[in-house]
Amino acid sequence: MSEQEIGNGSADFVVVANRLPVDLERGPDGSQRWTASPGGLVSALEPFLRSRKGAWVGWPGVPGVEVDPFSDEGMVLYPVTLTADDVRDYYEGFSNATLWPLYHDVVERPVFDRGWWESYVKVNRRFAEAAADVAAGGATVWVQDYQLQLVPSMLRELRPDLRIGFFLHIPFPPVELFMQLPWRAEIVRGLIGADLVGFHRPGGAQNFLWLARTLVGLEPSRGAVGVRSRPGMMQVGNRTVRVGAFPISIDSAGLDGLARTKQVSERAAQIRHDLGNPKTVLLGVDRLDYTKGIDLRLQALHELLQEGRVKPEDVTFVQLATPSRERVEHYQRMRSDIEQMVGRINGEFSRVGHPVVHYLHQSVSRTELASFYSAADVMVVTPLRDGMNLVCKEYVACRHDLGGALVLSEFAGAAAELTSAFLVNPHDLDGVKNALEAAITLDPAEGRRRMRALRRQVLTHDVDRWARSFLEALGTETTS
Ligand code: ADP
Ligand code: G6P
Repeated sequence: MSEQEIGNGSADFVVVANRLPVDLERGPDGSQRWTASPGGLVSALEPFLRSRKGAWVGWPGVPGVEVDPFSDEGMVLYPVTLTADDVRDYYEGFSNATLWPLYHDVVERPVFDRGWWESYVKVNRRFAEAAADVAAGGATVWVQDYQLQLVPSMLRELRPDLRIGFFLHIPFPPVELFMQLPWRAEIVRGLIGADLVGFHRPGGAQNFLWLARTLVGLEPSRGAVGVRSRPGMMQVGNRTVRVGAFPISIDSAGLDGLARTKQVSERAAQIRHDLGNPKTVLLGVDRLDYTKGIDLRLQALHELLQEGRVKPEDVTFVQLATPSRERVEHYQRMRSDIEQMVGRINGEFSRVGHPVVHYLHQSVSRTELASFYSAADVMVVTPLRDGMNLVCKEYVACRHDLGGALVLSEFAGAAAELTSAFLVNPHDLDGVKNALEAAITLDPAEGRRRMRALRRQVLTHDVDRWARSFLEALGTETTS
Protein backbone atom coordinates (compact mmCIF):
# COMPACT_ATOMS: atom_id res chain seq x y z
CA MET A 1 0.00 0.00 0.00
CA SER A 2 1.40 3.43 -0.86
CA GLU A 3 1.45 6.38 1.54
CA GLN A 4 -1.52 7.93 -0.31
CA GLU A 5 -3.58 4.83 0.26
CA ILE A 6 -3.15 4.93 4.04
CA GLY A 7 -6.47 6.05 5.30
CA ASN A 8 -9.79 5.07 6.66
CA GLY A 9 -11.70 2.25 5.06
CA SER A 10 -8.80 1.19 2.84
CA ALA A 11 -7.62 -2.16 4.21
CA ASP A 12 -8.91 -5.55 3.06
CA PHE A 13 -7.01 -7.48 5.71
CA VAL A 14 -6.62 -6.11 9.22
CA VAL A 15 -4.92 -7.51 12.31
CA VAL A 16 -6.01 -6.00 15.63
CA ALA A 17 -3.72 -6.65 18.59
CA ASN A 18 -3.01 -4.85 21.83
CA ARG A 19 0.50 -4.03 20.66
CA LEU A 20 1.81 -2.90 17.31
CA PRO A 21 4.72 -5.06 16.10
CA VAL A 22 7.00 -2.12 16.94
CA ASP A 23 7.35 -0.18 20.18
CA LEU A 24 8.03 3.53 20.38
CA GLU A 25 11.07 4.25 22.54
CA ARG A 26 11.87 7.70 23.75
CA GLY A 27 15.39 8.67 24.72
CA PRO A 28 16.13 11.01 27.65
CA ASP A 29 17.03 13.70 25.06
CA GLY A 30 13.52 13.49 23.57
CA SER A 31 14.66 11.41 20.57
CA GLN A 32 12.33 8.66 19.32
CA ARG A 33 12.96 5.29 17.72
CA TRP A 34 10.94 2.18 16.94
CA THR A 35 12.09 -1.20 18.28
CA ALA A 36 10.65 -4.73 17.91
CA SER A 37 7.85 -5.44 20.39
CA PRO A 38 8.33 -8.30 22.86
CA GLY A 39 6.56 -11.65 22.89
CA GLY A 40 5.44 -14.56 20.76
CA LEU A 41 2.36 -12.94 19.21
CA VAL A 42 4.49 -10.40 17.36
CA SER A 43 7.25 -12.92 16.49
CA ALA A 44 4.66 -15.14 14.83
CA LEU A 45 2.36 -12.66 13.11
CA GLU A 46 4.81 -10.08 11.87
CA PRO A 47 6.46 -12.11 9.08
CA PHE A 48 3.05 -13.32 7.96
CA LEU A 49 1.46 -9.89 7.83
CA ARG A 50 4.40 -8.31 6.02
CA SER A 51 4.11 -10.87 3.22
CA ARG A 52 0.39 -10.23 3.12
CA LYS A 53 0.70 -6.43 3.03
CA GLY A 54 -2.05 -6.03 5.60
CA ALA A 55 -2.92 -3.37 8.15
CA TRP A 56 -2.16 -3.68 11.89
CA VAL A 57 -4.13 -1.79 14.53
CA GLY A 58 -2.39 -1.64 17.93
CA TRP A 59 -0.86 0.38 20.74
CA PRO A 60 2.65 1.82 20.24
CA GLY A 61 3.73 0.71 23.73
CA VAL A 62 3.97 4.05 25.56
CA PRO A 63 1.17 5.91 27.30
CA GLY A 64 -0.33 9.11 26.00
CA VAL A 65 1.24 9.34 22.55
CA GLU A 66 -0.68 10.12 19.40
CA VAL A 67 0.98 8.80 16.27
CA ASP A 68 -0.39 9.02 12.72
CA PRO A 69 -0.76 5.83 10.66
CA PHE A 70 2.43 4.91 8.80
CA SER A 71 3.80 2.23 6.46
CA ASP A 72 6.45 -0.18 7.60
CA GLU A 73 7.98 -2.58 5.06
CA GLY A 74 4.78 -3.82 3.50
CA MET A 75 2.44 -3.28 6.46
CA VAL A 76 0.41 -0.24 7.38
CA LEU A 77 0.37 0.45 11.11
CA TYR A 78 -2.55 2.22 12.78
CA PRO A 79 -1.61 3.33 16.31
CA VAL A 80 -4.27 3.37 19.05
CA THR A 81 -3.61 5.73 21.95
CA LEU A 82 -3.73 4.48 25.55
CA THR A 83 -3.61 7.02 28.37
CA ALA A 84 -1.56 6.39 31.51
CA ASP A 85 -4.81 5.38 33.28
CA ASP A 86 -5.68 2.94 30.48
CA VAL A 87 -2.24 1.37 30.77
CA ARG A 88 -2.65 0.99 34.52
CA ASP A 89 -6.22 -0.34 34.52
CA TYR A 90 -6.78 -2.08 31.18
CA TYR A 91 -3.25 -3.32 30.36
CA GLU A 92 -1.38 -3.85 33.64
CA GLY A 93 -4.60 -4.39 35.60
CA PHE A 94 -7.33 -6.39 33.90
CA SER A 95 -5.20 -7.89 31.11
CA ASN A 96 -2.11 -8.78 33.08
CA ALA A 97 -3.12 -9.05 36.74
CA THR A 98 -6.60 -10.59 36.16
CA LEU A 99 -6.78 -12.48 32.86
CA TRP A 100 -3.12 -13.52 32.49
CA PRO A 101 -2.88 -15.38 35.84
CA LEU A 102 -6.46 -16.71 35.57
CA TYR A 103 -5.81 -18.20 32.13
CA HIS A 104 -2.43 -19.63 33.23
CA ASP A 105 -3.86 -22.02 35.81
CA VAL A 106 -3.90 -19.37 38.57
CA VAL A 107 -0.12 -19.73 38.99
CA GLU A 108 -0.48 -16.35 40.72
CA ARG A 109 -3.71 -15.18 42.32
CA PRO A 110 -5.81 -13.12 39.86
CA VAL A 111 -7.06 -9.75 41.11
CA PHE A 112 -10.73 -8.97 40.41
CA ASP A 113 -11.23 -5.20 40.31
CA ARG A 114 -14.41 -3.58 38.98
CA GLY A 115 -12.64 -0.39 37.92
CA TRP A 116 -10.18 -2.40 35.82
CA TRP A 117 -13.08 -4.19 34.12
CA GLU A 118 -14.68 -0.86 33.19
CA SER A 119 -11.41 0.24 31.66
CA TYR A 120 -11.15 -3.07 29.73
CA VAL A 121 -14.62 -2.48 28.24
CA LYS A 122 -13.78 1.12 27.33
CA VAL A 123 -10.45 0.31 25.70
CA ASN A 124 -11.87 -2.70 23.81
CA ARG A 125 -14.46 -0.33 22.37
CA ARG A 126 -11.70 2.03 21.25
CA PHE A 127 -9.92 -0.81 19.41
CA ALA A 128 -13.20 -1.93 17.83
CA GLU A 129 -13.84 1.62 16.59
CA ALA A 130 -10.32 1.90 15.19
CA ALA A 131 -10.70 -1.42 13.35
CA ALA A 132 -14.11 -0.35 12.01
CA ASP A 133 -12.51 2.82 10.62
CA VAL A 134 -9.61 1.06 8.94
CA ALA A 135 -11.39 -1.92 7.35
CA ALA A 136 -12.66 -1.73 3.78
CA GLY A 137 -16.17 -3.01 2.92
CA GLY A 138 -16.33 -6.81 3.37
CA ALA A 139 -12.76 -6.93 4.75
CA THR A 140 -11.35 -9.66 6.97
CA VAL A 141 -10.44 -8.53 10.48
CA TRP A 142 -8.38 -10.83 12.67
CA VAL A 143 -8.52 -9.92 16.36
CA GLN A 144 -5.73 -11.24 18.60
CA ASP A 145 -5.44 -12.38 22.17
CA TYR A 146 -6.80 -11.97 25.69
CA GLN A 147 -6.53 -8.19 25.86
CA LEU A 148 -9.23 -7.79 23.19
CA GLN A 149 -11.87 -10.44 23.85
CA LEU A 150 -14.78 -7.99 23.63
CA VAL A 151 -13.70 -6.58 20.27
CA PRO A 152 -15.35 -9.24 18.05
CA SER A 153 -18.90 -8.42 19.24
CA MET A 154 -18.31 -4.68 19.44
CA LEU A 155 -16.90 -4.66 15.92
CA ARG A 156 -19.73 -6.77 14.55
CA GLU A 157 -22.24 -4.25 15.86
CA LEU A 158 -20.38 -1.43 14.14
CA ARG A 159 -19.61 -3.30 10.94
CA PRO A 160 -21.84 -6.32 10.20
CA ASP A 161 -20.31 -6.56 6.71
CA LEU A 162 -16.91 -7.78 8.02
CA ARG A 163 -15.56 -11.31 8.30
CA ILE A 164 -14.19 -11.47 11.86
CA GLY A 165 -11.74 -14.01 13.29
CA PHE A 166 -10.37 -14.20 16.82
CA PHE A 167 -7.30 -16.11 18.02
CA LEU A 168 -6.24 -16.62 21.64
CA HIS A 169 -2.44 -16.85 21.98
CA ILE A 170 -2.48 -17.97 25.60
CA PRO A 171 -4.08 -21.08 27.12
CA PHE A 172 -7.84 -21.11 27.56
CA PRO A 173 -8.34 -22.27 31.14
CA PRO A 174 -10.30 -25.18 32.59
CA VAL A 175 -13.94 -24.17 32.98
CA GLU A 176 -13.76 -24.37 36.80
CA LEU A 177 -11.15 -21.59 36.78
CA PHE A 178 -12.85 -19.48 34.12
CA MET A 179 -16.06 -19.59 36.17
CA GLN A 180 -14.30 -17.54 38.90
CA LEU A 181 -14.36 -14.49 36.65
CA PRO A 182 -17.14 -12.07 37.67
CA TRP A 183 -17.48 -11.00 34.00
CA ARG A 184 -17.38 -14.53 32.53
CA ALA A 185 -20.60 -14.27 30.48
CA GLU A 186 -19.58 -10.90 29.04
CA ILE A 187 -16.27 -12.35 27.83
CA VAL A 188 -17.98 -15.31 26.15
CA ARG A 189 -20.50 -12.94 24.53
CA GLY A 190 -17.63 -10.77 23.33
CA LEU A 191 -15.90 -13.68 21.62
CA ILE A 192 -18.94 -15.10 19.87
CA GLY A 193 -19.11 -11.93 17.81
CA ALA A 194 -16.41 -13.60 15.70
CA ASP A 195 -17.14 -16.02 12.84
CA LEU A 196 -14.25 -18.20 14.00
CA VAL A 197 -12.76 -18.41 17.49
CA GLY A 198 -9.36 -20.14 17.51
CA PHE A 199 -7.29 -21.69 20.28
CA HIS A 200 -3.95 -23.53 20.25
CA ARG A 201 -5.32 -26.81 21.53
CA PRO A 202 -8.60 -28.74 21.09
CA GLY A 203 -9.04 -28.71 24.89
CA GLY A 204 -9.33 -24.91 24.90
CA ALA A 205 -11.93 -25.01 22.13
CA GLN A 206 -13.86 -27.67 23.99
CA ASN A 207 -13.86 -25.62 27.21
CA PHE A 208 -15.11 -22.59 25.33
CA LEU A 209 -17.98 -24.55 23.75
CA TRP A 210 -19.05 -25.77 27.19
CA LEU A 211 -19.05 -22.20 28.53
CA ALA A 212 -21.08 -20.94 25.56
CA ARG A 213 -23.72 -23.54 26.40
CA THR A 214 -23.66 -22.91 30.15
CA LEU A 215 -23.30 -19.14 30.27
CA VAL A 216 -25.04 -17.97 27.09
CA GLY A 217 -27.49 -20.83 26.48
CA LEU A 218 -26.20 -21.67 22.99
CA GLU A 219 -26.36 -25.17 21.56
CA PRO A 220 -22.89 -26.07 20.30
CA SER A 221 -22.13 -29.21 18.30
CA ARG A 222 -21.05 -32.13 20.48
CA GLY A 223 -18.30 -33.85 18.47
CA ALA A 224 -14.63 -33.69 19.52
CA VAL A 225 -12.72 -30.75 18.00
CA GLY A 226 -9.63 -31.80 16.02
CA VAL A 227 -6.34 -30.04 15.33
CA ARG A 228 -6.96 -27.83 12.27
CA SER A 229 -10.02 -29.99 11.62
CA ARG A 230 -13.57 -30.66 12.82
CA PRO A 231 -14.25 -27.24 14.39
CA GLY A 232 -17.12 -27.00 16.84
CA MET A 233 -20.12 -25.03 15.59
CA MET A 234 -22.94 -23.07 17.11
CA GLN A 235 -25.74 -20.91 15.81
CA VAL A 236 -25.74 -17.32 17.11
CA GLY A 237 -28.83 -15.62 15.65
CA ASN A 238 -28.53 -16.12 11.91
CA ARG A 239 -24.74 -16.67 12.01
CA THR A 240 -22.73 -19.87 12.44
CA VAL A 241 -19.78 -19.43 14.81
CA ARG A 242 -16.95 -21.95 14.43
CA VAL A 243 -14.58 -22.85 17.26
CA GLY A 244 -11.33 -24.60 16.40
CA ALA A 245 -7.75 -25.51 17.33
CA PHE A 246 -4.84 -24.04 15.38
CA PRO A 247 -1.39 -24.52 16.97
CA ILE A 248 0.72 -21.48 16.16
CA SER A 249 4.31 -21.68 14.93
CA ILE A 250 7.28 -19.68 13.70
CA ASP A 251 8.91 -18.61 10.45
CA SER A 252 10.83 -21.90 10.45
CA ALA A 253 12.53 -21.56 7.07
CA GLY A 254 13.58 -17.98 7.81
CA LEU A 255 15.23 -18.96 11.07
CA ASP A 256 16.79 -22.10 9.58
CA GLY A 257 18.31 -19.90 6.86
CA LEU A 258 19.59 -17.37 9.39
CA ALA A 259 21.20 -20.10 11.51
CA ARG A 260 23.06 -21.37 8.45
CA THR A 261 24.79 -18.03 7.82
CA LYS A 262 28.49 -17.58 8.51
CA GLN A 263 27.70 -14.62 10.74
CA VAL A 264 25.66 -16.81 13.09
CA SER A 265 28.05 -19.77 13.17
CA GLU A 266 31.00 -17.46 13.87
CA ARG A 267 29.11 -15.63 16.57
CA ALA A 268 28.03 -18.95 18.14
CA ALA A 269 31.66 -20.06 18.33
CA GLN A 270 32.57 -16.69 19.83
CA ILE A 271 29.86 -17.04 22.49
CA ARG A 272 31.19 -20.47 23.52
CA HIS A 273 34.70 -19.05 23.63
CA ASP A 274 33.58 -16.07 25.72
CA LEU A 275 31.90 -18.49 28.14
CA GLY A 276 35.25 -20.26 28.58
CA ASN A 277 34.47 -23.22 26.28
CA PRO A 278 32.60 -25.25 28.91
CA LYS A 279 31.68 -28.86 28.13
CA THR A 280 27.98 -28.01 28.24
CA VAL A 281 26.16 -24.74 27.59
CA LEU A 282 22.60 -24.71 28.94
CA LEU A 283 20.27 -21.97 27.71
CA GLY A 284 16.99 -20.39 28.80
CA VAL A 285 15.29 -17.67 26.70
CA ASP A 286 12.09 -16.12 28.00
CA ARG A 287 10.13 -13.02 28.65
CA LEU A 288 10.69 -12.56 32.39
CA ASP A 289 7.34 -14.04 33.40
CA TYR A 290 6.32 -16.17 36.40
CA THR A 291 4.59 -18.66 34.10
CA LYS A 292 7.91 -19.60 32.47
CA GLY A 293 9.33 -21.60 35.39
CA ILE A 294 12.73 -19.86 35.32
CA ASP A 295 12.99 -20.34 39.10
CA LEU A 296 12.35 -24.08 38.75
CA ARG A 297 15.14 -24.64 36.28
CA LEU A 298 17.54 -22.65 38.45
CA GLN A 299 16.53 -24.71 41.44
CA ALA A 300 17.05 -27.94 39.50
CA LEU A 301 20.52 -26.80 38.42
CA HIS A 302 21.35 -25.73 41.98
CA GLU A 303 20.49 -29.16 43.36
CA LEU A 304 22.40 -30.98 40.61
CA LEU A 305 25.46 -28.90 41.49
CA GLN A 306 25.00 -29.47 45.23
CA GLU A 307 24.67 -33.23 44.69
CA GLY A 308 27.78 -33.29 42.51
CA ARG A 309 25.80 -34.75 39.59
CA VAL A 310 26.91 -31.77 37.53
CA LYS A 311 30.34 -30.17 37.93
CA PRO A 312 30.51 -26.37 38.02
CA GLU A 313 33.60 -26.37 35.79
CA ASP A 314 31.72 -28.36 33.14
CA VAL A 315 28.52 -26.34 32.75
CA THR A 316 27.47 -22.80 32.07
CA PHE A 317 23.85 -21.78 32.20
CA VAL A 318 22.85 -18.70 30.19
CA GLN A 319 19.47 -17.15 30.91
CA LEU A 320 18.30 -14.42 28.56
CA ALA A 321 15.27 -12.69 30.02
CA THR A 322 13.37 -9.94 28.23
CA PRO A 323 12.09 -7.31 30.69
CA SER A 324 8.30 -7.59 30.91
CA ARG A 325 5.35 -5.89 32.68
CA GLU A 326 7.67 -4.39 35.23
CA ARG A 327 5.09 -2.37 37.13
CA VAL A 328 2.88 -5.38 37.89
CA GLU A 329 3.51 -6.63 41.43
CA HIS A 330 3.56 -10.36 40.56
CA TYR A 331 6.41 -9.63 38.15
CA GLN A 332 8.41 -7.53 40.61
CA ARG A 333 8.34 -10.31 43.20
CA MET A 334 9.33 -12.98 40.70
CA ARG A 335 12.21 -10.93 39.35
CA SER A 336 13.72 -10.41 42.74
CA ASP A 337 13.34 -14.14 43.59
CA ILE A 338 15.09 -15.16 40.38
CA GLU A 339 17.89 -12.66 40.80
CA GLN A 340 18.44 -13.89 44.33
CA MET A 341 18.71 -17.48 43.11
CA VAL A 342 21.20 -16.51 40.40
CA GLY A 343 23.30 -14.74 43.02
CA ARG A 344 23.11 -17.71 45.33
CA ILE A 345 24.20 -20.28 42.73
CA ASN A 346 27.03 -18.06 41.54
CA GLY A 347 28.07 -17.32 45.12
CA GLU A 348 28.38 -21.02 45.88
CA PHE A 349 29.76 -22.43 42.65
CA SER A 350 31.49 -19.81 40.48
CA ARG A 351 35.19 -19.15 40.13
CA VAL A 352 36.73 -15.76 39.36
CA GLY A 353 36.05 -15.05 35.70
CA HIS A 354 33.76 -18.09 35.38
CA PRO A 355 30.25 -17.59 36.70
CA VAL A 356 28.11 -20.73 36.45
CA VAL A 357 25.00 -18.68 35.60
CA HIS A 358 25.02 -15.78 33.15
CA TYR A 359 21.81 -13.83 33.60
CA LEU A 360 21.05 -11.12 31.04
CA HIS A 361 17.95 -9.07 31.77
CA GLN A 362 17.91 -7.87 28.18
CA SER A 363 16.38 -8.34 24.78
CA VAL A 364 18.78 -9.41 22.04
CA SER A 365 18.55 -9.16 18.24
CA ARG A 366 17.27 -12.03 16.08
CA THR A 367 20.78 -12.77 14.80
CA GLU A 368 22.20 -12.79 18.32
CA LEU A 369 19.36 -15.05 19.46
CA ALA A 370 20.00 -17.50 16.60
CA SER A 371 23.67 -17.51 17.65
CA PHE A 372 22.78 -18.37 21.25
CA TYR A 373 20.48 -21.16 20.07
CA SER A 374 23.27 -22.50 17.83
CA ALA A 375 25.78 -22.34 20.71
CA ALA A 376 23.60 -24.14 23.28
CA ASP A 377 23.92 -27.86 23.99
CA VAL A 378 20.78 -27.99 26.08
CA MET A 379 17.77 -25.71 25.69
CA VAL A 380 15.71 -25.54 28.89
CA VAL A 381 12.03 -24.60 28.50
CA THR A 382 10.09 -25.25 31.72
CA PRO A 383 6.86 -23.21 31.85
CA LEU A 384 4.21 -24.11 34.42
CA ARG A 385 1.71 -23.27 31.70
CA ASP A 386 2.24 -21.80 28.23
CA GLY A 387 -0.24 -21.46 25.35
CA MET A 388 2.32 -22.69 22.83
CA ASN A 389 5.90 -21.47 23.54
CA LEU A 390 7.76 -20.41 20.44
CA VAL A 391 11.24 -20.43 21.96
CA CYS A 392 11.46 -24.24 21.79
CA LYS A 393 10.43 -24.21 18.13
CA GLU A 394 12.99 -21.49 17.38
CA TYR A 395 15.74 -23.58 18.98
CA VAL A 396 14.82 -26.58 16.84
CA ALA A 397 14.66 -24.47 13.66
CA CYS A 398 18.22 -23.26 14.33
CA ARG A 399 19.71 -26.76 14.79
CA HIS A 400 20.36 -27.71 11.15
CA ASP A 401 23.49 -29.44 12.49
CA LEU A 402 21.19 -31.85 14.41
CA GLY A 403 23.11 -30.90 17.56
CA GLY A 404 21.61 -29.90 20.88
CA ALA A 405 18.90 -31.29 23.11
CA LEU A 406 15.57 -29.85 24.18
CA VAL A 407 14.13 -30.15 27.69
CA LEU A 408 10.49 -29.12 27.45
CA SER A 409 7.61 -28.80 29.90
CA GLU A 410 4.55 -30.96 29.29
CA PHE A 411 2.51 -27.88 30.11
CA ALA A 412 3.59 -25.92 27.04
CA GLY A 413 1.21 -26.27 24.08
CA ALA A 414 4.27 -27.19 21.97
CA ALA A 415 4.74 -30.44 23.93
CA ALA A 416 1.90 -32.03 21.95
CA GLU A 417 3.95 -31.54 18.76
CA LEU A 418 7.54 -31.85 20.01
CA THR A 419 7.26 -35.32 21.45
CA SER A 420 10.93 -36.17 20.80
CA ALA A 421 12.04 -33.59 23.37
CA PHE A 422 12.89 -34.56 26.95
CA LEU A 423 9.40 -33.87 28.28
CA VAL A 424 9.15 -32.93 31.95
CA ASN A 425 6.52 -32.10 34.53
CA PRO A 426 7.93 -28.81 35.89
CA HIS A 427 6.27 -29.40 39.26
CA ASP A 428 8.35 -32.55 39.67
CA LEU A 429 11.78 -31.20 40.54
CA ASP A 430 13.43 -34.63 40.56
CA GLY A 431 12.00 -35.28 37.11
CA VAL A 432 13.42 -31.97 35.85
CA LYS A 433 16.83 -32.80 37.32
CA ASN A 434 16.83 -36.25 35.71
CA ALA A 435 15.87 -34.79 32.34
CA LEU A 436 18.60 -32.14 32.57
CA GLU A 437 21.17 -34.78 33.43
CA ALA A 438 19.98 -37.02 30.60
CA ALA A 439 20.18 -34.12 28.14
CA ILE A 440 23.66 -33.13 29.35
CA THR A 441 24.99 -36.69 28.96
CA LEU A 442 23.03 -37.49 25.78
CA ASP A 443 24.63 -39.89 23.31
CA PRO A 444 25.22 -37.86 20.10
CA ALA A 445 23.56 -40.43 17.81
CA GLU A 446 20.44 -40.48 19.98
CA GLY A 447 20.54 -36.67 20.07
CA ARG A 448 20.60 -36.49 16.28
CA ARG A 449 17.71 -38.92 16.04
CA ARG A 450 15.62 -36.80 18.38
CA MET A 451 16.56 -33.51 16.71
CA ARG A 452 15.77 -34.89 13.24
CA ALA A 453 12.26 -35.80 14.41
CA LEU A 454 11.78 -32.39 16.05
CA ARG A 455 12.92 -30.57 12.93
CA ARG A 456 10.61 -32.56 10.70
CA GLN A 457 7.70 -31.27 12.78
CA VAL A 458 8.83 -27.64 13.05
CA LEU A 459 9.89 -27.19 9.44
CA THR A 460 6.65 -28.63 8.04
CA HIS A 461 4.35 -26.79 10.47
CA ASP A 462 5.34 -23.15 10.21
CA VAL A 463 3.51 -19.92 10.91
CA ASP A 464 2.35 -19.63 7.34
CA ARG A 465 0.59 -22.96 7.60
CA TRP A 466 -0.98 -21.84 10.88
CA ALA A 467 -2.29 -18.60 9.39
CA ARG A 468 -3.54 -20.28 6.23
CA SER A 469 -5.36 -23.00 8.14
CA PHE A 470 -7.05 -20.39 10.34
CA LEU A 471 -8.05 -18.18 7.42
CA GLU A 472 -9.32 -21.16 5.44
CA ALA A 473 -11.54 -22.15 8.36
CA LEU A 474 -12.68 -18.53 8.54
CA GLY A 475 -13.68 -18.86 4.92
CA THR A 476 -11.51 -16.09 3.54
CA GLU A 477 -8.74 -18.21 2.05
CA THR A 478 -8.80 -21.11 -0.35
CA THR A 479 -6.23 -23.90 -0.37
CA SER A 480 -3.49 -23.13 -2.87
P1 ADP B 1 5.66 -15.34 25.13
O1 ADP B 1 4.83 -15.03 23.94
O2 ADP B 1 4.87 -15.73 26.34
O3 ADP B 1 6.68 -14.31 25.45
P2 ADP B 1 6.93 -17.34 23.40
O4 ADP B 1 7.96 -18.35 23.70
O5 ADP B 1 5.76 -17.85 22.65
O6 ADP B 1 6.50 -16.67 24.79
O7 ADP B 1 7.55 -16.17 22.55
C1 ADP B 1 8.61 -15.40 23.02
C2 ADP B 1 9.26 -14.68 21.87
O8 ADP B 1 10.12 -13.67 22.40
C3 ADP B 1 10.12 -15.59 21.02
O9 ADP B 1 10.00 -15.25 19.67
C4 ADP B 1 11.54 -15.31 21.54
O10 ADP B 1 12.54 -15.45 20.57
C5 ADP B 1 11.45 -13.88 21.98
N1 ADP B 1 12.36 -13.62 23.11
C6 ADP B 1 12.27 -14.10 24.37
N2 ADP B 1 13.29 -13.67 25.13
C7 ADP B 1 14.06 -12.90 24.33
C8 ADP B 1 15.26 -12.14 24.55
N3 ADP B 1 15.87 -12.09 25.74
N4 ADP B 1 15.74 -11.45 23.50
C9 ADP B 1 15.11 -11.48 22.30
N5 ADP B 1 13.99 -12.17 22.05
C10 ADP B 1 13.45 -12.86 23.05
C1 G6P C 1 2.45 -12.90 25.05
C2 G6P C 1 1.01 -12.47 24.80
C3 G6P C 1 0.99 -11.27 23.88
C4 G6P C 1 1.86 -10.17 24.42
C5 G6P C 1 3.27 -10.69 24.68
C6 G6P C 1 4.19 -9.64 25.30
O1 G6P C 1 2.98 -13.33 23.85
O2 G6P C 1 0.29 -13.56 24.26
O3 G6P C 1 -0.33 -10.80 23.71
O4 G6P C 1 1.91 -9.08 23.53
O5 G6P C 1 3.20 -11.80 25.55
O6 G6P C 1 3.62 -9.10 26.45
P1 G6P C 1 3.31 -7.55 26.58
O7 G6P C 1 2.47 -7.43 27.80
O8 G6P C 1 4.66 -6.92 26.72
O9 G6P C 1 2.61 -7.12 25.34
